[in-house]
Amino acid sequence: MCNIAPGASPNRTVSFHRRIDHYLARTARKLDAVLPSADERPERLHDAMRYAVFNGGKRVRPLLVYATGECLGIDEALLDGPAAAIELIHAFSLVHDDLPAMDDDDLRRGKPTVHRQYDEATAILAADALQPLAFSVLADIEAPPDVRVRLVRLLADACGSIGMTGGQAIDLASEGRTLSAPDLEHMYALKTGALIHASVVSVGLLKPDLPEDAANALDRFARTVGVAFQIRDDILDIEGETEVIGKPAGSDAGLRKATYPGQFGIVDARRRCDELLADAFRELAPLDGHAESLRWLARYIVERAF
Ligand code: IPE
Ligand code: IPE
Ligand code: MG
Ligand code: MG
Ligand code: MG
Repeated sequence: MCNIAPGASPNRTVSFHRRIDHYLARTARKLDAVLPSADERPERLHDAMRYAVFNGGKRVRPLLVYATGECLGIDEALLDGPAAAIELIHAFSLVHDDLPAMDDDDLRRGKPTVHRQYDEATAILAADALQPLAFSVLADIEAPPDVRVRLVRLLADACGSIGMTGGQAIDLASEGRTLSAPDLEHMYALKTGALIHASVVSVGLLKPDLPEDAANALDRFARTVGVAFQIRDDILDIEGETEVIGKPAGSDAGLRKATYPGQFGIVDARRRCDELLADAFRELAPLDGHAESLRWLARYIVERAF
């Protein structure tokens, strides 16, 4: 069940690690409950949606939701909706990312990508259907209407042209080009950071009396970790083995993607990740001991092997 390998991070917080299986199970239950059954018509579409969601992701974004919930003392039942909604958007983004018109990858999480397992049209439609499902899940959570509207708005922005989709557009437009470090990080902040940011900040919205300094600390923490997440992904694309990372190693170089390690080298990319991790830890200072689980996840994000 636990996709995050024990020992992947030199354990700072053993206790969060022990709770990961519990959170993964909650996430799986919620996703299973909201996704139409594969027996329901149109069966092939629903089967493809389930394949995209249940083929072995690490569930880092839901874990960030639950870890932020621990930090703010929020009832975990209230977190299932946001956790599942963000994972649905993430799954949709990966299905599109792998399409021939985008990164044209055949392997994801060690299995055929959705367009390979089914066909291209089914993959496009499965992703199209995962996206609105996320908003339907958010619309149903047990929170006051104004909180639900703010959650929907946050995720819509994180997923749209000023968020993930915009970042993907910049990623594609940057193939074969050299970007400045700030421009690279801007692209990362959008294509990957926006959903990571939403994972943390959405939990803050569930606590209307959250002090401003704590909200700002979480906001900056999440932005920092989001950029580090993509630099680590790009390092793994160069250094990782296909069998371990579950996606084709060297895909970025093949597509002449603009990436941090591709342009500045692995050593500088690692150094930048370490810097971002230190910044992220510093941002959590106002939250004191309550943020141990977020610290654990931030370290995991920059040290993970896949
Ligand atoms: C991969 O994200 C895509 C990026 C944003 C870098 P993850 O590494 O979280 O993918 P899964 O869900 O665990 O497969
Ligand atoms: C992030 O970039 C993808 C999304 C925002 C969906 P990548 O293209 O590097 O992600 P992987 O390596 O294919 O998972
Ligand atoms: Mg891509
Ligand atoms: Mg890709
Ligand atoms: Mg990648």
